[in-house]
Amino acid sequence: MASLAENTGSAETETLMDSLREIARSENSAWRTLPPEAYHSPELHALEVDRIFRRHWLCIGRVEQVANPGDFMTLDVVGEPIVLVRDKKGEVRVLSNVCRHRWMKVCDGSGNRDAFVCPYHAWTYELDGRLRGAVEMKEHPGFDPKTVALPEVRHEVWQGFVYINLDGKAEPLAPQLTHVDKEIAEFGIENWEVVETVDCGEYPWDWKVMQDNGECYHHIGAHPETFEVNFPARTTVTECEGPTVIQWCEAREGKRTRHDDGLDYVPMYFEPVPGLTERQRINFMLIYVLPNFFIYLQPDYGMKIRMFPTAAGRIRMYVDFFVPAAAKAMPDFDARLAEAVAFFHRFNEEDYKVNSAIQKGLQSAWAKPAPLSWLEEHNQHVARWVAEELTRA
Ligand code: FES
Ligand SMILES: [Fe+2]
Repeated sequence: MASLAENTGSAETETLMDSLREIARSENSAWRTLPPEAYHSPELHALEVDRIFRRHWLCIGRVEQVANPGDFMTLDVVGEPIVLVRDKKGEVRVLSNVCRHRWMKVCDGSGNRDAFVCPYHAWTYELDGRLRGAVEMKEHPGFDPKTVALPEVRHEVWQGFVYINLDGKAEPLAPQLTHVDKEIAEFGIENWEVVETVDCGEYPWDWKVMQDNGECYHHIGAHPETFEVNFPARTTVTECEGPTVIQWCEAREGKRTRHDDGLDYVPMYFEPVPGLTERQRINFMLIYVLPNFFIYLQPDYGMKIRMFPTAAGRIRMYVDFFVPAAAKAMPDFDARLAEAVAFFHRFNEEDYKVNSAIQKGLQSAWAKPAPLSWLEEHNQHVARWVAEELTRA
């Protein structure tokens, strides 16, 4: 196979690939970040789309976000227009959102439809992708409408989350996540419901900067009042396995809340799920499934973060708040949800400041691969995973 340098003519990229091979070979035993160039190289971004984002499972939403037949939601996933839809029989489908005529985007945004009508020449598709009709096409000798359909994208549902695999060749997802299932079984999140989505728009930093920001070490500097005060960085426990990272972030004694059931919990906004273990009650969890998904999970609610790279150094991000039935049944639920969303905006502003500055800083002439603290095992693992995926033969 031709090397990347041969494809791009870039000696810098070949040097970068050598560094990645070294990180992969050593399993990042030196506990260093990826080279700063890896976070802004357009050539590497193209390779990431090919070897990571098209090959691995990507979370695009949850099943209840298309609860009723006809509900749909569109997304751009590394340049692929996609539509998540519930068809008339109630089945969840993921379809290419590109018309089989002359490549127009068939639908936009989200909503409920009886069929998809292409806005260019009005070819009409059933909700399962089959062509219902194409005006003025009878005269075409080779055109058989029965063979025309929007291509289906391979998908899997895990714990209520809809994942897609663009190249259709990934190993099944669920068996890769059985260890996560065991850690969160008591939450029953397959039955939780998305109640609010914040479309963050485009952010000026790389998807790997976003991943790196997943450690809790930065509670100390970036989040003194929002997180460190309740969840000290020093007691975070990190568990890495394959494409997953789980972090347990324990609430300080004295900052836990005694609930009506007589048990201690992390600070909460809503009614918690009953039957959690002590560890699940006094920690919030961060669960990462590489490359594009993570959830923040605590006993009474969760935030699902979906991010999609749009270019080297840029992402589009959505945050979905999801809650158990007990939370949603509270009489003052709306006011409580508003508080939870306000808290997100508060700490997200803190993250915005650091992530956008980091994306600039890593392009400095003096930026070098950086040493990691023992509290950045997440980063050590992500750097290793990315290097392995990009250099796999
Ligand atoms: S491009 Fe869709 S009908 Fe022509
Ligand atoms: Fe943060």
